[in-house]
Amino acid sequence: MTIMHSERPTPRPGVLDITAYSPGQSAAPGGVKIHKLSSNESPLGPSRTAVAAFTRASEQLERYPDGSAGALREALGTRYGLKAENIVCGSGSDELLSLIGQAYLKDGDEAIYSAHGFLVYPIVIRANGATPVVVPEKDLTTDVDAMLARVNSKTKVVFLANPNNPTGTYLPFDDVKRLHAGLPASTLLVLDAAYAEYVRQNNYEAGVELVSTFSNVVMLRTFSKVYGLAGLRIGWAYCPPDVADALNRIRGAFNVNAPAIAAAQAALADAAHVERAVAHNDRWLPWLRAEIAKLGYHTTPSVGNFLLVHFAEGEAPEADAFLNARGVILRRMEAYDLPHALRLTIGSEEANHAFIAALRAFSEGRTRHG
Ligand SMILES: Cc1ncc(COP(=O)(O)O)c(C=O)c1O
Repeated sequence: MTIMHSERPTPRPGVLDITAYSPGQSAAPGGVKIHKLSSNESPLGPSRTAVAAFTRASEQLERYPDGSAGALREALGTRYGLKAENIVCGSGSDELLSLIGQAYLKDGDEAIYSAHGFLVYPIVIRANGATPVVVPEKDLTTDVDAMLARVNSKTKVVFLANPNNPTGTYLPFDDVKRLHAGLPASTLLVLDAAYAEYVRQNNYEAGVELVSTFSNVVMLRTFSKVYGLAGLRIGWAYCPPDVADALNRIRGAFNVNAPAIAAAQAALADAAHVERAVAHNDRWLPWLRAEIAKLGYHTTPSVGNFLLVHFAEGEAPEADAFLNARGVILRRMEAYDLPHALRLTIGSEEANHAFIAALRAFSEGRTRHG
């Protein structure tokens, strides 16, 4: 047999069209104190009781975790008034997005998301051979009518981040219901509510009621944001029974690790810590918006724990480099098709002041040289 050296294993169609996800930077020049405001992490960190539970769990690392994360699902069920069997835990909501893609998308299908939607959606869609359908937004907000206009018999999944990352905008529940009402029963609506805890608007709902009522809606939540457990990778999906069944068939038998389950359960019980994190955001988000405005920059109104800061054409990379040199790390937005913006996570008091001081120095430098 002749060996064909040019032959090699090839990934399925779609995989090589993916631009790999690039996480927020965390480095700055040596000697400079770093304020990482690039990944929407909690400036308060995790609850102390969650850290204690993590430490206790680390004493038993020889043991496999409870593959179904039963106790955590029960605790989530009690907290939110849901049936535990309709909850599936994942290694971050990222894994749950991947599982949804594997279970519900195949070659030739289409899946919809909005123009500045979370970047994991196109990765999941392409990884499963399906075609991403990207819908323009209105005022950096999901446009329900434009989305519904793109739905056809090939549309198998609609991904909606609500609130959306990186824009920080959200759809009121009436609009989410209208979006759902326009979808065929065979199209799955994924409500990705990673930042739900931060939202203070009365007309917002993460989606529990829709999932409880219909068989084609899933809600995703995470312990990475307000709970400050991003490093442990744990999230959960509230699903109609058939969707939970499908995800449970394909997920790894032990997809969530034991210290993560233990820490998440403790974090869920520490309501005071969540309240502190939300109160911190409520205080500093408007402060940052106001200070940024005083320096002459526009921000998109945000209901999350981050702000999109807009710069003049061509200015964002320069601002990014300037801030970086002072240890303030924001997220570049080219991959989100927002090349003139940088995304700022609401940080600690010290980090927020460091950011404003650095942005002030940047704008003053530009006035002098401009
Ligand atoms: C909208 C959205 N969904 C999901 C995630 C993923 O979160 P996790 O850490 O749970 O995978 C993020 C994280 O940035 C996000 O912004």
